[in-house]
Amino acid sequence: MSTYGSTRINSCSHHAETMRSPSTVPVEDLSSALFSACRPRCRATSSVEGLQMASTFHHQSVQLAEVLELLMPVPAGVVVDCTLGGGGHAQALLEARADLSIVGLDRDQVALAAATNRLARFGSRAVVIRSTFDQLANIVREGMDGQRPWPLAADGKPQPVVGVLFDLGVSSPQLDEADRGFSYRLDAPLDMRMDQSQGQTARELLDVIDLDALTDLLRDNGEDRMARRIAKAILAARPILTTGELAETVAQAVPAAVRRRGHPAKRTFQALRIAVNGELDQLERALTDALDVLVPGGRCIVLSYHSGEDRLVKTAFAAARTGGCTCPPQLPCVCGAVPRVKKLHGGSIGATADEMAENPRAESVRLRAVEKLNV
Ligand SMILES: C[S@@+](CC[C@H](N)C(=O)[O-])C[C@H]1O[C@@H](n2cnc3c(N)ncnc32)[C@H](O)[C@@H]1O
Repeated sequence: MSTYGSTRINSCSHHAETMRSPSTVPVEDLSSALFSACRPRCRATSSVEGLQMASTFHHQSVQLAEVLELLMPVPAGVVVDCTLGGGGHAQALLEARADLSIVGLDRDQVALAAATNRLARFGSRAVVIRSTFDQLANIVREGMDGQRPWPLAADGKPQPVVGVLFDLGVSSPQLDEADRGFSYRLDAPLDMRMDQSQGQTARELLDVIDLDALTDLLRDNGEDRMARRIAKAILAARPILTTGELAETVAQAVPAAVRRRGHPAKRTFQALRIAVNGELDQLERALTDALDVLVPGGRCIVLSYHSGEDRLVKTAFAAARTGGCTCPPQLPCVCGAVPRVKKLHGGSIGATADEMAENPRAESVRLRAVEKLNV
């Protein structure tokens, strides 16, 4: 453990770690504090490098207009941005509504440095916390109990949670920085961890996994019809040390016709990334917590980029919307189920053609949103 301003934190822990409030610490200090708090287990990065990374973090926020529009009617209070990234959605929200504050979570140190820098001018309206989002309920409880920094209302009380935002998946810098090991296009050590200070790398996972488990992983997370064939090739090629070796192994494993339909390793890389970071497991828990922590009239918005994620969101929102009702859909409910949320649109919302043309990473997005009811 180390102390951090007035807040006690776990160095490099997977659990919540509060970055100093931008209102009280100069930006240079923020970045050096960020990286020094994680020594010695984190990748060696000086504070100066930290600042450079923060200033060169380029990620174009997806469905920004839709997210803003959906959050305009919420009461005054805190929006918890569970996937803060570079802080693009967060900044737009803080600019759009002076009565909203942000508590932003991310597990990626580079993203946190960038967001801390970007949101510094909003002072105590932005609190940045290093955490995975499956800690959402604990973080909100500690904020409400005064155990961690939290935006306060005029009466000095912690502001209620009026919005929860998830913009899932990876940020552009995670894909574009070769040394993160996420990209099949850039050769680098096979890492893929969003938090590089802990957990198993993709290389370590591939070293120990058996054929059936790897086949399931590629099928479930990558929806890859070639899953078994690719899994066999990967096991035969072990140890696979780099992204380049993995991409080549997959390319050699699939028929030429598949190679002509885009990069054959795309699904394999996505499947491994989801497994390495436990993305689906974390989401399930966080969605339940999100609907619990919202006040009535508060809204939860999720942007998914993968059908497995979107299915989880659809299921969680449907269960909350029906309250687990077991009555036939065409008849009035008599089972006593109590709906907890109402939906804000039919189905899911994709990106517009204009946005897709401008930002190819928006192509696969599906947005779902619900509002908490007063029950
Ligand atoms: C698509 S980016 C968010 C971009 C951000 N909305 C913006 O506009 O700049 C997703 C971010 O979520 C983070 N992330 C993904 N899974 C996470 C998890 N389980 N807990 C915390 N952060 C997570 C990633 O590290 C990444 O920075």
